[in-house]
Amino acid sequence: MEQQRDQWKSKFGFLMAAVGSAVGLGNIWGFPYKMGMNGGFAFLVIYLLLVAFVGFAVMLGELALGRKTGQGAVGAYIALSKKYTWIGYMGVASGFLILSFYSVLGGFVGKYMISFLIEMFSPGAAFGGMGSGEFFGAFINNAGGSILFHFLFMIITAVIVMGGVSGGIEKFNVVAMPALAVMLVVVIIRSVTLPGAGAGLAFMFAPNFAAFKEIGFFNVLKTAAGQMFFSLSLGMGCMITYGSYLSKKEDLEGSAFIIPISDTLMALLAGLAVMPAVFAFGMEPTGGPGLLFVTLHTVFTEGLTGFIGSLFGFIFYFLVLLAAITSAISLLEVCSTYIIDRNTSAGKSSNRKTITGILAFIIFLIGIPVCMDGLGGGNIIGANFWFGKWCFLDFYDLISEGIFMPLGAMLMSIIIGWVIKTKVIKDEAEIEGNKLKFYKFWEICFKFVVPIVMVVVLIGQLQGFGIF
Ligand code: PFF
Repeated sequence: MEQQRDQWKSKFGFLMAAVGSAVGLGNIWGFPYKMGMNGGFAFLVIYLLLVAFVGFAVMLGELALGRKTGQGAVGAYIALSKKYTWIGYMGVASGFLILSFYSVLGGFVGKYMISFLIEMFSPGAAFGGMGSGEFFGAFINNAGGSILFHFLFMIITAVIVMGGVSGGIEKFNVVAMPALAVMLVVVIIRSVTLPGAGAGLAFMFAPNFAAFKEIGFFNVLKTAAGQMFFSLSLGMGCMITYGSYLSKKEDLEGSAFIIPISDTLMALLAGLAVMPAVFAFGMEPTGGPGLLFVTLHTVFTEGLTGFIGSLFGFIFYFLVLLAAITSAISLLEVCSTYIIDRNTSAGKSSNRKTITGILAFIIFLIGIPVCMDGLGGGNIIGANFWFGKWCFLDFYDLISEGIFMPLGAMLMSIIIGWVIKTKVIKDEAEIEGNKLKFYKFWEICFKFVVPIVMVVVLIGQLQGFGIF
């Protein structure tokens, strides 16, 4: 039975969904710290150049491939040629792996949000006088608690995806993303008006070319490039999937600019929310889970303190939760669309709710070990289970973000630039009267710039994970 494929109801809805996918944990705990540690303003310049020469093009390529073929990650590559099927599978596999740990982290964020809500009305009831490090340590070593919050996060994600593209994902994003932006502004105002906030602004923004010398230009470049494509949700067919639900009237080139620019602005705003407060209270900035769950927890419990501290803690973790959910739904949608498309092309009908429910459950199961090894410190599962080097989270991240995603983005770009040719993208973009304004630019990006930068990312990622 042929089923009518869903479509985004409005341009705004599509943009909110795509920006929602891009803006996530990567923006909040990755960008501000990496920017501060890798040259500040100088890092930002490199980052912006990468967005301009790589991000825009890969975004355009993915959206165009999705819309042209009307298929998700796997189907789009099959439509180009059966021999590319495996590239699509790498994308879907990345979706499974990333979501399985993303959901665990999202669950942590949910736990923190609820804890601050409790603290607002009943001080001491949630944190019980524990310091930030102690509270976090106790939580990650409590596998049952982590699994419960991972489960709840997956349920929320699955219910939204079950609602469909326009009825679930779009509806959620058009409310969640503006809400997130408003909360972010509230937190920024508090953060930058704290006495001593200037040091945080200096950490992030002051140009520090010495970092290039100390860290090495290549290392700065690979950090920026890796951050950029993960933050833009590129390389795993997420934007192919979202593009496949776009109407032919939509201006692809415009979207390929708007989404990365919005993501970058949100990353900078996240930095303005986080770093001034960290410095105002005399703390050392960190990256990753340490920043989100220990340093910032201290900001709200020992820096701001009392009801106000808990209130801002609640608002902050609520906005991070929304950012995580809007990214998680795009990861799950990549997987659901794959199965739905496969059924449709085999002439079978699909029940989106059942398919999404089963996939979400499988992803929940894959994430359970992430809850059981204390993020590498060891708990029920011993420390660094994988080859003595990586915890579950890092191992899943290595395969997806480290290998499959840069490889996926590189291959897509080579296929567009050299095999099917950029003209195909132009034809798709111009199908209903829009004009592709920068054809030559896109061609150079697809043929040369993106493949070269992706090699840098791939090498950088493998080095970062200690492979060589
Ligand atoms: N862009 C998200 C972040 O910055 O946290 C992560 C992500 C979402 C990556 C969706 C890939 C993806 F398909």
